Amino acid sequence: MAAKKRKRQNDLPRAFILLVLVALAICLPTKSVTHAQSSESYKATIEIRLDQPRSVINRNIYGQFAEHLGRLIYEGLWVGEGSRIPNTRGLRNDVITALKELHVPVLRWPGGCFADEYHWRDGIGPRDKRPRRPNASWGGVDTNAFGTHEFMDLCEMLGADAYINGNVGSGTPQEMMDWIEYMTSDSDSDLANLRRRNGRDKPWKIPYFAVGNETWGCGGNMRPEYYADVYRQYATFIKDHSGNHIQKLASGSYDENYNWTEVLMSQAGKYMDGLSLHYYTLPTSNWEKKGSATQFDEKEWHATLVRTLRIDEFIQRHSAIMDKYDPQKRVGLMVDEWGTWYDAERGRDMGALYQQNTLRDAVVAGVNLNIFQKHAERVRMANIAQMVNVLQSMILTDKEKMVLTPTYYVFRMYRVHQGATMIPVDLSAPEYKYGDAVIPSLSASASRDGEGRLHLSIVNLDPNRAVEITTTVWGGAVRSVAGEVLTAAAMNAMNTFDRPDTIKPAPFSGYKFQDSRLTLSIPAKSVVTLELK
Ligand code: AHR
Repeated sequence: MAAKKRKRQNDLPRAFILLVLVALAICLPTKSVTHAQSSESYKATIEIRLDQPRSVINRNIYGQFAEHLGRLIYEGLWVGEGSRIPNTRGLRNDVITALKELHVPVLRWPGGCFADEYHWRDGIGPRDKRPRRPNASWGGVDTNAFGTHEFMDLCEMLGADAYINGNVGSGTPQEMMDWIEYMTSDSDSDLANLRRRNGRDKPWKIPYFAVGNETWGCGGNMRPEYYADVYRQYATFIKDHSGNHIQKLASGSYDENYNWTEVLMSQAGKYMDGLSLHYYTLPTSNWEKKGSATQFDEKEWHATLVRTLRIDEFIQRHSAIMDKYDPQKRVGLMVDEWGTWYDAERGRDMGALYQQNTLRDAVVAGVNLNIFQKHAERVRMANIAQMVNVLQSMILTDKEKMVLTPTYYVFRMYRVHQGATMIPVDLSAPEYKYGDAVIPSLSASASRDGEGRLHLSIVNLDPNRAVEITTTVWGGAVRSVAGEVLTAAAMNAMNTFDRPDTIKPAPFSGYKFQDSRLTLSIPAKSVVTLELK
């Protein structure tokens, strides 16, 4: 008995030491990775062409997408006024506060595939009278508690522009025309008065409206020739009311379906302000077995990056077709769905598209944002799929709990580029090989904002080696460096509801000036954003 007691007493300090060691292992990865790998680092150079400023980076490249899908709208954003989760007019306060930090410029809603089954009249008026409809695209029943007024309230809280995706697949031009009048007219019309009776006196501004979604697939399985005509018809009835000006967006292509862009641009290009492009990063390229969000090895890390980098070629080639018909670049290429798409987690509803988010997603996000910025002349909007609890989201929720994902932090770090002028960067770095596949080991972008501040973002795609980058700024001098680095010891580092702070940005200290030359030490598998002064 006495021996047992002593053993228990001795266990206490040992358990405490173990606890401290575990806590240290969780808290320290950022720093230890930087130093542990510096011995095996590779060398690179970057030339920042401050002397060759290019076009403005449209802030809408940092756009978001919120579809009635899984637990995005209901639970992720909307909990209802009676919820015990703190909320403002039904929208959860924790999520809204976190999203505000991202300076979300534009928000696309209500889908996705759901857009082509959504009838806006279901989502207005007293909530207890709204119809409950099956969500034919993603399963479950939609209570319609979240409709036009709630969406516009959300946009106003976030300070985001509204991008509404209209229903072509199961709607009519009249329904679309009425919705626009309801939202934007300040007249004495019945629809404007209906909006007033439903609690909104002043009309809203709706700057972006799309005619259908994926009309080659879930939006109607159309041929491009047919959709080009449908687009022209519907677009005719998108009217500007009371000083609101709508940019009309056509449902565009996916991946390397260049014929869709060719037909749409040649037959309907002059009637549109934007044409969309969708591209999802699947580690395997196989929709039946996409790959796990969290359980992967270096082979799959590399394969994921190979696939995500393909968007550069897709944008170039779709843009080249657009250039033929629109050399002035009047029509924007709107990448209004992009991001990683993995297999649904075991035990989760397959239709909900809920997935965890790791350091790999952060690297994917950084690489894609760098590519969009490189193509700023043509890419005027991009909307990551999706905002909360669906695919590559910013935020995950579980009842009253919330975690910020690694992707969230990349969007927060990169917000400095919104609306800034694109500054070209020339990188010279060894490749990152795995097996026979070869990709660049580095990705970077730079911009100068309205106050003349120069920002540089760098992604090190190599999960094993840090990099020493010798930096040259043409047309300017740098004397100080400040910023953040996002990295971790493990490729699949993630934030969970139990450990929400496993991976988050840390202040960046890996720089030195030697003979007035700046060298940056960037850890393996990391995303960095710096202000160079
Ligand atoms: O983002 C999920 C779905 O992916 C969207 O509803 C659809 O447009 C795309 O196929």
